[in-house]
Amino acid sequence: MPVITNIDDLKRLHKKRTPKMFYDYCESGAWTEQTFRENVTDFDKIRLRQRIAVDMEGRSTATQMIGQDVSMPVALAPVGLTGMQRADGEIKAAKAAEKFGVPFTLSTMSICSIEEVDKHTTKPFWFQLYVMRDQDFLEGIIQRAKDAKVSALVLTLDLQILGQRHKDLKNGLSVPLRPTLPNIANLATKWQWGLEMLATKNKSFGNIVGHAKGVSNMGSLFTWTAEQFDPRLDWDKIKKIKEMWGGPLILKGILDEEDARRAVDVGADAIIVSNHGGRQLDGALSSIRRLEPIIAAVGDQVEVHIDSGIRSGQDVLKATAMGATGTYIGRAYIYGLGAMGEAGVTKALEVIHKELDMSMALCGRRNINDVDRDILLVPEDFAGRWA
Ligand SMILES: Cc1cc2nc3c(=O)[nH]c(=O)nc-3n(C[C@H](O)[C@H](O)[C@H](O)COP(=O)(O)O)c2cc1C
Repeated sequence: MPVITNIDDLKRLHKKRTPKMFYDYCESGAWTEQTFRENVTDFDKIRLRQRIAVDMEGRSTATQMIGQDVSMPVALAPVGLTGMQRADGEIKAAKAAEKFGVPFTLSTMSICSIEEVDKHTTKPFWFQLYVMRDQDFLEGIIQRAKDAKVSALVLTLDLQILGQRHKDLKNGLSVPLRPTLPNIANLATKWQWGLEMLATKNKSFGNIVGHAKGVSNMGSLFTWTAEQFDPRLDWDKIKKIKEMWGGPLILKGILDEEDARRAVDVGADAIIVSNHGGRQLDGALSSIRRLEPIIAAVGDQVEVHIDSGIRSGQDVLKATAMGATGTYIGRAYIYGLGAMGEAGVTKALEVIHKELDMSMALCGRRNINDVDRDILLVPEDFAGRWA
C-alpha cells in the first residue's frame, strides 16, 4: 500500500490505474487550458499569515452550508461519468462523503442513477441538474430527485453548449469504452478497473437511459444528449425550475457580479463561483480571483460558495478566509476514486481536512467560523484591474 500524503499522490495512482480516456477526461480543460491551469496557480499567489502563542486546543472545522451541518466546508462537486473512473463510482463517492459528513452532489450525467445512489446511502445527497429541452424529462428528473429526498438542487448554468476539450476528441471518448486497438492495449494494463467494471450493471448514463423518450440504448443516447442541452436557458426558465423544485437551490457557474445579482433576484439560496474547472470558457479568470468582487456585490444577500482549482486544505482555508461559506472539490476526489475507490475518496477528504485543520491552527484560529481575511496575505492587485 503506497503512503499517501497529498492529493498529487492520489493523482499519480489515478493515472496509473484508470483507462487513459477517462483519466484524460478528468485532467483536461477547454482549448489551451489556460483557465484550467490558472485556477490552481492563482491559489498559490495567496499566502498565509503565521501567528504564534495562541491556544490551539479544541479545534473545529464543523460549520454549515445552506443550513446543513458539514464536518468541514467542502462538498463533492458534480462530476459526470464518475462511474467510469471506477465501477459504481458515484455510490462509492457518496458513501465516503456521507461517512465524512460532507455533501455529495450527483451529476445529471452520472453513470449510477439517482435511485441507485439513494439505495446505497442513508442520508440525503445533493443533485445537479442540466437543463434539457425535453420538458417531460426535466419534470421527471426533478420529481425523481424529490422522491429520493435530495436536500439541495444544484443548477448548472455554464454549460448550455459543451466546451471543447481536445483530448476527449483525440481519444474518441465514449461510454462504455469502444473496443478499438489502442483502447484494448491500454486496458490490458488496467485489469483491476476492467474486472470491477465487468461485475457491475451500472455502465451507462443511469439517469437518462430508460427515462428519456426514445433512449433505450447507447446509439439513441448519443443523439439525444447532443440535441438536448438547452441553449435557450435563461433567467425566466431558471425561475420556473425553482418553482418546480420548491427546495434549496444552488446556482452553479457564476463568474460575474451582474449574474450574481440576477441569481439573488431569482431567489437562489447559494451561488457557486465557478468556471466549471476550466472546462468551458478558456480565457475566463480563475474562480478564486473572482471570489472577492462577487462577495462584495452579493455576499450580504446570498451564500457564496466556490469551486475550481481546489487541491488542498490550504486552498479551502484561503477561500473561506476570503468569505466563501462553502467550497467544492471535483478532480481532487476523482483522483482518490480512480486511485483506490471509496477508500481513495475518504483519503482525499482526510488529506484536505488535515491540511485545513493544521493550517488554520498555525494561522492562530481554532474554529473555522472565526477564520477571516485577517489570516491572509493577498497581493494588492490580486483581483486584477481588467477593463
Ligand atoms: C471530469 C469532470 C466532469 C464534470 N462533470 C460535471 C457535471 O456533470 N456537471 C457539473 O455541473 N459540473 C461538472 N464538472 C465540473 C465540477 O462540478 C466542478 O465545477 C469542477 O470540477 C471544479 O474544479 P476542480 O476539478 O478543479 O475542483 C465536471 C468536472 C470534471 C473534472
